[in-house]
Amino acid sequence: MKQKNDPRIISLLTSLAIVGITLFILSIYYLLKDQGGNELIALGFIILFAFVYFIIYHTLQTFIYSKVKLIYKTIHRLKLGKEDLAQHFESQSHSLDNVNKEVEEWAKLKSDEINLLKESAKYRREYIGNVSHELKTPVFNIQGYIMTLLDGGIDDPNINKKYLERTEKSIQRMIELIDDLETISALESGSLSLNYQRFDIVEFTNEIIDSYEVATTNKGIRLFMAKGENQPPIYVEADKDRIRQVFSNLIDNAIKYIGKPNHPRIKISFYDMDDNTLIEVSDNGIGIEEENIPRLFERFYRVDKGRSRDSGGTGLGLSIVKHIIEAHNQTVNVRSTPNVGTTFSFTLKSSR
Ligand SMILES: Nc1ncnc2c1ncn2[C@@H]1O[C@H](COP(=O)(O)OP(=O)(O)O)[C@@H](O)[C@H]1O
Ligand SMILES: [Mg+2]
Repeated sequence: MKQKNDPRIISLLTSLAIVGITLFILSIYYLLKDQGGNELIALGFIILFAFVYFIIYHTLQTFIYSKVKLIYKTIHRLKLGKEDLAQHFESQSHSLDNVNKEVEEWAKLKSDEINLLKESAKYRREYIGNVSHELKTPVFNIQGYIMTLLDGGIDDPNINKKYLERTEKSIQRMIELIDDLETISALESGSLSLNYQRFDIVEFTNEIIDSYEVATTNKGIRLFMAKGENQPPIYVEADKDRIRQVFSNLIDNAIKYIGKPNHPRIKISFYDMDDNTLIEVSDNGIGIEEENIPRLFERFYRVDKGRSRDSGGTGLGLSIVKHIIEAHNQTVNVRSTPNVGTTFSFTLKSSR
């Protein structure tokens, strides 16, 4: 069926209208003059109709429709790419209604694309800014220590060892930052594939607790499992190395931000939730103010820049945790009360 805004139909209808009106006027005129002119009117009708139809059709086709079609084709080429174009033109009818609808769709698509590009450009700018800012601190520190040593400090037994040790600490900090950046970019580009395996999370946590023995006893912190080390096994399915990273980040944080409570403790608990196992790492440390909670998992986000700078944090730890857990299709959460403590929890897939 022909579309109602096909140029041929438009021309036909307009011509009929014009000719009709002219005929009507002519008829009145002849009637008033009381002359018979039927043959003349009929001939006039045909000639006039053909003429008007041709003029209108030609005008529409040349000046309006072909121009619109050109714009439409250009948009389609951008929208579909060249390959799909021929096929698309065969399968579609090109009424002006369609053109309008498709142009609107196209405009929406483009503005979405532009917004996405703007966002990722902003993200890149921020990212580069953050990375260079984080690298600047240790690099300038190293420069300062080396210059002091070169300026004679190297011969001063009170300074030389101390400054070399500080240099080593700054280098260590840079290495940590680079490691974290590497992990983040692997996780974000999706190039990191998970190596799922079934393991006992209780036994695994015992190993991790052992590896923290020195760090915790030095600070007088008690790190333990809520139900003790001899509780029955709980099997989960996950990437063991990545989950080790999750635990390290959460325990490192708890140690770093525990402050000085009377009996500093870090407790690890497990809860069976049928399909999943919920794992909690909770401390009785300084806690986190409510307003900082929503931004905690952002890259480079630290609650107190000064405070965590002293403890050598990069602000990447929790975003790595979130990436790893989400890559497992699981969730991570936090609840915290200032001066009472913080609990991070995450789920893993249970395996019977
Ligand atoms: N257990 C915790 N108690 C209090 N604050 C915490 C705790 N864990 C994380 N935070 C806050 O969240 C911020 C982000 O943590 P993270 O991404 O690991 O960065 P980083 O440890 O390098 O500072 C920390 O700077 C700290 O302010
Ligand atoms: Mg951390």
